[in-house]
Amino acid sequence: MHLRCDETPQWPLLQAHCDAAGRSFDLRQAFAADAERFAHFSQQAPYVFADLSKNLWDRQAEALLLDMARACRLEQSRDAMFAGQAINTTEGRAALHTLLRRPRGVALAGDEGFVAQALQEVHATLDAMLDFAEQVRADARITDIVNIGIGGSDLGPHMAVRALEAYQIPGKRFHFVSNIDGHELASVLNSVRPEGTLFIVASKTFTTLETMTNARSALDWFTAQGGRDVARHFVALTANVAKAAEWGMTTTFGFWDWVGGRYSLWSAIGLPIAIAIGAAGFRQFLAGAHAMDEHFRTAPLAANLPVRLALLDLWYRNFLGFTSRCIAPYHARLQRLPAYLQQLEMESNGKRVDHEGRTLPMATAPVLWGEPGSNGQHAFFQLLHQGPDVQALEILAVRDCAHGLVGHHEMLLASALAQAQALMQGRASDCGHRHFPGNRPSSFLLLDALTPASLGALLALQEHRVFTSGSLWGINSFDQWGVELGKQLAQDLQPRLQSGDVTGLDASTAGLVQRLKKLGSDSN
Ligand code: F6P
Repeated sequence: MHLRCDETPQWPLLQAHCDAAGRSFDLRQAFAADAERFAHFSQQAPYVFADLSKNLWDRQAEALLLDMARACRLEQSRDAMFAGQAINTTEGRAALHTLLRRPRGVALAGDEGFVAQALQEVHATLDAMLDFAEQVRADARITDIVNIGIGGSDLGPHMAVRALEAYQIPGKRFHFVSNIDGHELASVLNSVRPEGTLFIVASKTFTTLETMTNARSALDWFTAQGGRDVARHFVALTANVAKAAEWGMTTTFGFWDWVGGRYSLWSAIGLPIAIAIGAAGFRQFLAGAHAMDEHFRTAPLAANLPVRLALLDLWYRNFLGFTSRCIAPYHARLQRLPAYLQQLEMESNGKRVDHEGRTLPMATAPVLWGEPGSNGQHAFFQLLHQGPDVQALEILAVRDCAHGLVGHHEMLLASALAQAQALMQGRASDCGHRHFPGNRPSSFLLLDALTPASLGALLALQEHRVFTSGSLWGINSFDQWGVELGKQLAQDLQPRLQSGDVTGLDASTAGLVQRLKKLGSDSN
């Protein structure tokens, strides 16, 4: 039987350990008392080295957390995901994004019946998508690629294209339009020419309001500008190919309902990445992710990096009560990583009921936030050092750089190390505002270089970490019912902004609708 973490015998033991040693834990003393602390709490996983030693936990907490994970039958849940069981219970689907990076012809013990066939389809679509990407790369007439999509159909490709700029084909510009706010699309359209542009309409459902509105406006603009050959200039990436055909889009690359939107950049949704870095680069990206999949699938829990990260997350959230995790990538090209991770973690695990619909007695996903370092140091790091609440911090650094500017990279890396050091060590002062309390945690993830493969591994690491904490909390990490209500209410409110009808609205919404209607008519 799968237990939820709070139902295991380890849960009260963890609570007792937290009361006895967790809240009074001091990092500086822990390092002084244990010469092996760094060796024990750091490890190399595929492409990612992690130092978790500057965190507020000890070996006993980690051992209890590992026992708890075993009691929850985490390994069985993990195997069920890889085998394609319908672990997305509220939608009756598998969550098989790992299949998108599984090499051709590889079968796993326990694979569900449909998996072998699905793997063939994955590779057929991948081959076709990569051929198309190569055609676009070779077509000098196409100078601009405009991806129209939102959420998982935007955040992953956008983040990865920016991250892998060092590998990007010269002579092509990549634009990402997600917001229904027309300012975003308008500024892109102002900078492109119809004959030089490929519009990629990316939407799993092909019904998302923002994407459909932007796609309609892009199509109208294209024809109004004298653009010809919609079939050549518009391509659809979707699990709803029939719907795309209704739009006259005949070049389509499909994917499947067992690929969640926020897990979809490995599928056809990755087309902008493939155009940017080429077919070989995209295959390396998949291979890096697959290497991390194999690590997660086979490494013992105690040496399994996604599992260790998730156990630390759970310790912080449920026992030390931290409410957020700051993501600080010390690499300017990872600027979109915090936004991508926000969706991955908060849309997956920001839930208050378990698989059976029972209200959970404990907290789940923390708030994720962040900005690249060193920028963040000059903005919000003040709060991390001296704010009254302790927050988790994850620093991500890259050893090699892809520019030739002297001195920058050493200083960047030194800054990352210094922040972690300062947070931990603190500095005593009699003068309150100069006092740094120290004993503040940080994790340090390190890549040798930012390459397609290392990025793939890093993202798969984060996916599996989210899967692990979701499994332990007993929640379905693969649905997102919480986004529905606002979408429905917006459909009701839009005509009211025209008509001014406020019947049945609460007083605040009614007041705002009337004000917006009034402002609209004043400016007409
Ligand atoms: O509204 C949330 C959501 O459904 C996300 O889960 C998804 O990534 C995004 O919208 C976009 O959906 P689609 O790819 O179907 O347009």
